[in-house]
Amino acid sequence: MLAIPLRKSRETLASFVTRRFRTTLSRCVTFENSGRPTEVLRITEVPLPPLTDTTLHLRFLAAPVNPADINQVEGVYPISARSLPDVDGFIGGNEGVAEVVAVGERAAQQLNVQPGDWVLPAVPAFGTWRTYAAAEIHEVQKIPKEGLTALQAATLAVNPCTAYRMLKDFVQLQPGDTVVQNGANSAVGQAVIQIARAWGIRTLNVIRDRPNLEELSRQLRDMGADWVIRDTDLRSAETRALFASGNARKPFLALNCVGGKAATDMLRLLGNGGSFVTYGAMSRQPLTLPASAFIFKDISAHGYWMTRWMEDKREGRREERAQMLNELIGMLRAGTLWPPIAEVTRWGHELQLEASLDSMRSIVTAAGAGLAGKKQVMLMHDVE
Ligand SMILES: NC(=O)c1ccc[n+]([C@@H]2O[C@H](COP(=O)([O-])OP(=O)(O)OC[C@H]3O[C@@H](n4cnc5c(N)ncnc54)[C@H](OP(=O)(O)O)[C@@H]3O)[C@@H](O)[C@H]2O)c1
Repeated sequence: MLAIPLRKSRETLASFVTRRFRTTLSRCVTFENSGRPTEVLRITEVPLPPLTDTTLHLRFLAAPVNPADINQVEGVYPISARSLPDVDGFIGGNEGVAEVVAVGERAAQQLNVQPGDWVLPAVPAFGTWRTYAAAEIHEVQKIPKEGLTALQAATLAVNPCTAYRMLKDFVQLQPGDTVVQNGANSAVGQAVIQIARAWGIRTLNVIRDRPNLEELSRQLRDMGADWVIRDTDLRSAETRALFASGNARKPFLALNCVGGKAATDMLRLLGNGGSFVTYGAMSRQPLTLPASAFIFKDISAHGYWMTRWMEDKREGRREERAQMLNELIGMLRAGTLWPPIAEVTRWGHELQLEASLDSMRSIVTAAGAGLAGKKQVMLMHDVE
């Protein structure tokens, strides 16, 4: 067995290998078999492959833990996590922001990038829960980093883009129109509230009851939510009166993050011909849609999946995505869009391996807890 002497007890394997062999070791959150994240996650360190003409070396700055990441580890997501040749198993994480540390000549030309630039994954299942990565040209997209924080950039590609597309692609909304959504305090829901407000669209926001209901309602209203109600209020006289009184236009777009009874109750608020769009299934309950809604109100029901939109081979999709990212980045810079309410945990080489694993277990436990209130984000490196 190869023994690697560490000069100082605090020196990590990564810094030793980097110093001794001039190779960067990436610390990765991996799993061999799917299952409960706290049980199956491991920490693995692998050297980065040598840079080639068409690759980039990346230093991850930050990455969130989203519900889809957890589902992927559990083995209940339609896209498998990424496996790497040097890793037993798969690397977790779909979203994050990385800084370019080195770039091959062709990659630099094609992507117009240089060391110091920031990139986002342009493919699903990139494996963002790692400190360093090598990427092919098609796997990343450069973003203009000026004025952005790592938290803003790391949480931009999935949830705000999903909110943006769902507000744009199903119903031609006009200023003053109303959109109703459940899971309104989710990261997607928070982005829906803020993008809608920026576009002059009003939102009726449905959340679950909780001890700090007032505090959460106020936070959402501060973001721009017009109305915040509990899922148990969906069929109340007050909610119906909101539309009957003419205070609000009846919604023609409903965004469903949750499923179950709360989704059925939300569908009943839609106006004739409205669109009911499901993008999440957080309650893990089936969706029951009343036949009357289809027969008498001509409601249409759709699913939305950001991955499908990204993978659509239609010409210009990459440019369309860049345009959407630029618009959202403009909103982040202007302060009209805020990153999700988050708990940020430093996670990187400064921790010993066992502490790294303990920290990751705590992060995924917090991310998977209901009524958690905060998006869990790993901070791998400081912005220099
Ligand atoms: N289709 C797509 O393209 C797409 C893109 C992005 C996200 N998503 C999906 O959208 C959903 C939200 O993602 P996110 O990152 O925004 O989530 P998030 O920030 O982690 O928030 C989770 C949300 O789910 C709610 N929730 C948790 N457990 C619940 C339960 N048992 N019953 C009802 N609500 C529950 C939470 O409300 P409480 O505070 O009440 O627990 C919170 O609103 C996920 O299902 C995710 O997979 C889909």
